[in-house]
Amino acid sequence: MNPFLSGLSPEKAPLSPDSPAGPLARPVAGSGILIVFEGMDGSGKSTQARNLKARLDGLAHPSVLTKEPGGTAAGARLREILLDPALPLAPEAELFLFEADRVMHVKTLLLPELRAGKTVLSDRLSDATVAYQSFGGGLSREFVSTLNDAALGGLVPDLTFLLDLPVAEISRRVLERGDGPTRFELLGAAYFERVRAGYLELARIHSSRTVVLDATHDPGQLEEQIWETLCRRFPGRFLPEGMRA
Ligand SMILES: Nc1ncnc2c1ncn2[C@@H]1O[C@H](COP(=O)(O)OP(=O)(O)O)[C@@H](O)[C@H]1O
Ligand SMILES: [Mg+2]
Repeated sequence: MNPFLSGLSPEKAPLSPDSPAGPLARPVAGSGILIVFEGMDGSGKSTQARNLKARLDGLAHPSVLTKEPGGTAAGARLREILLDPALPLAPEAELFLFEADRVMHVKTLLLPELRAGKTVLSDRLSDATVAYQSFGGGLSREFVSTLNDAALGGLVPDLTFLLDLPVAEISRRVLERGDGPTRFELLGAAYFERVRAGYLELARIHSSRTVVLDATHDPGQLEEQIWETLCRRFPGRFLPEGMRA
């Protein structure tokens, strides 16, 4: 029994009675697949996730686009706290909020959609927490992994695309977008170098489920690479109904 998930009080959280309360066998009953986009701010995750969603919509393939933090109603509130620069948080408090968001995301969105057979696209999941909070922020790897495992309850992405970009290029894109120089100034390039190294190490450790993309390529090129990878990994899945294997 997963104490984290089973600890939700039924009065406060009237989730479905078969909500997961422990490690799940993959695949989650049903034929859904979970595709995750990871990488630092400005690496192009949202662009690629959106483009893939549009392509799947064009094929009338059932899919859902979501994100962490903030993929659920409670998560959106947690995201406001997490991203509020005027609200400094102790690293452990920040981690718990990310994991609270994840519990809600897994239980109320990811699992039901996967069970319904959808292709679920998530803009970030647990690798980000290891890269940022542990490699970047210095929390122990074991502590972060333990909480990640508890929140995920055994859920593992079927495929993770890591959009890898040199830190200098990240900083340029974020500055261009006009929303983040302060974060860079605050945390410093060394912090982002550690996050990038963390992501790359996770990609090596989880090489069977992770594809590292050179995010300096243009968006159209990356979109094609992603699409070719998906068609190769999940043969027949994205063909129009009636033509599927
Ligand atoms: N492959 C790319 N090459 C150059 N610029 C890109 C590329 N992908 C996205 N961008 C631009 O970089 C910025 C960040 O992209 P976005 O998809 O929002 O990244 P993320 O979601 O990872 O923060 C946006 O201004 C976007 O237009
Ligand atoms: Mg984004």
